[in-house]
Amino acid sequence: MGFLSRHMWSFLDARFHTQPFRKFVDQQMHKRMPPHTGWVHVFGSLSLMLFLNQVITGILLLLYYRPTAEEAFKSIQYLHSEVSFGWLFRQLHAWGATLMILTVIVHMARTFFMGAYKKPRELTWVVGVAIFVLTIIFGFSGYLLPWNQLSFWATTVGTEIAGAVPGIGPVLRKLLLGGTDVGPETLSRFFTLHAVVLPWVMFALVVVHLFFMRVQNLATMDPVGEERPYPPESGIPFWPVHLAKEGCVALATLGLLVTLSVLAPWEIGEPADPLTTPAGIKPEWYFLPSYQLLKYFTGPRGRIFSIFLVTVPFLLLFLWPFLDRSKARHPRQRPIAVTVGVLAIVLALVLGTLAHVAESRYTIFGLTIEFDVMGKPKLVEPDADSAHSSRDLRQSGMDTPHAADPVGIGDSTDAEDVALEGWALLSEGRPANHQTPAVATASLSPRAMDSKK
Ligand code: HEM
Repeated sequence: MGFLSRHMWSFLDARFHTQPFRKFVDQQMHKRMPPHTGWVHVFGSLSLMLFLNQVITGILLLLYYRPTAEEAFKSIQYLHSEVSFGWLFRQLHAWGATLMILTVIVHMARTFFMGAYKKPRELTWVVGVAIFVLTIIFGFSGYLLPWNQLSFWATTVGTEIAGAVPGIGPVLRKLLLGGTDVGPETLSRFFTLHAVVLPWVMFALVVVHLFFMRVQNLATMDPVGEERPYPPESGIPFWPVHLAKEGCVALATLGLLVTLSVLAPWEIGEPADPLTTPAGIKPEWYFLPSYQLLKYFTGPRGRIFSIFLVTVPFLLLFLWPFLDRSKARHPRQRPIAVTVGVLAIVLALVLGTLAHVAESRYTIFGLTIEFDVMGKPKLVEPDADSAHSSRDLRQSGMDTPHAADPVGIGDSTDAEDVALEGWALLSEGRPANHQTPAVATASLSPRAMDSKK
């Protein structure tokens, strides 16, 4: 190996002036990181590894995926059943998206609690928040691409929420949809965004982020302006020590990714049908806290207030390094920032859990509990239970129990009424009736009718 690389470099040296480049790479590889650098510092590179996984599996998916309303769903079916390892690319891409968002959140939390966003790393943080927002938009835009019932209706709700943003909402919604409803134009736009625009913007932001991080090195735990220089021998060498840790975690995560892909594959579902509103539709897990929060405020004013509530955390995230001007970095010396961070995480977990269990029934120790649209539990009488058994454990809207019922309200039960109520609350901000607004919208829409043909 050493022999090969020596020959390769002497070959290149004879033709190009490679010395400065080699010196730069050498400096980067042998850089000493602060002495406290350890396992909690691996999540940045893990995010990078998962982003690369998305790019590679995304390119493989592009070989077969067709971004039109007629062919999108069929091309995914074909990929699953006919293409060698096609199912694996798709599963690695779908699970990779979930793991990437989770990893980016953990990395963000690590830098937050260790005060790494403080001077002089404010811009590293701001670029990081932009990356976080982009990661979520990646998830949202990719969700529509299989063109199944779940993705179609989740996008309908998601874009309705975007349309409710005061001021720019209606324009934003029209821009996203390419019309008034989710249709073939929406699929083209989401595809272009997901497979062309976002990857390049993300790539540019990640390069800037890594450049800032490398130039400034990782933060120590010393207060701002009182950083003590550490002797080089007490620093952690990037190569081989830290890189080995990053490699171990990357390999373990790849193992987890393959295991999840094999043992818990993502469903293809039913093809998108603009005329059939399935029950129990919910967005992906990372939207659940905002989704639940939106349910608590109804009416025009409530809707504006709820949109304000879900937007403010993102603004706060961007501005945080400029709002928290204290010098301390150690979490023990930052009780307010740490309390804000912990409360935000607990609130997101509680809201996310409520949204997850809402409109579902679970049987625990022989007791059947039904959760209404707000996530409020209700004990179900044992004999009323048998009729519902097929819908037990309806999770995250993954199943489509209304598929056989075009209007989705034919013989609606209490649980279904509650689910429909959620739709009405979200889509219209008004009390529910038995005609779901989504159905009403679809049946009025010529574009939706076109895509049905
Ligand atoms: C694709 C997404 C991202 C990649 C590839 C990435 C990559 C990295 C890497 C490799 C590091 C150095 C090691 C480490 O701390 O883990 C780092 C540091 C940092 N990242 Fe990220 N990052 C991403 C997203 C984010 C996000 C979402 C934020 C915050 C909102 C963020 C804020 C920071 C900060 C403040 C540092 C400096 C840490 C320190 O000095 O200790 N990053 N990033």
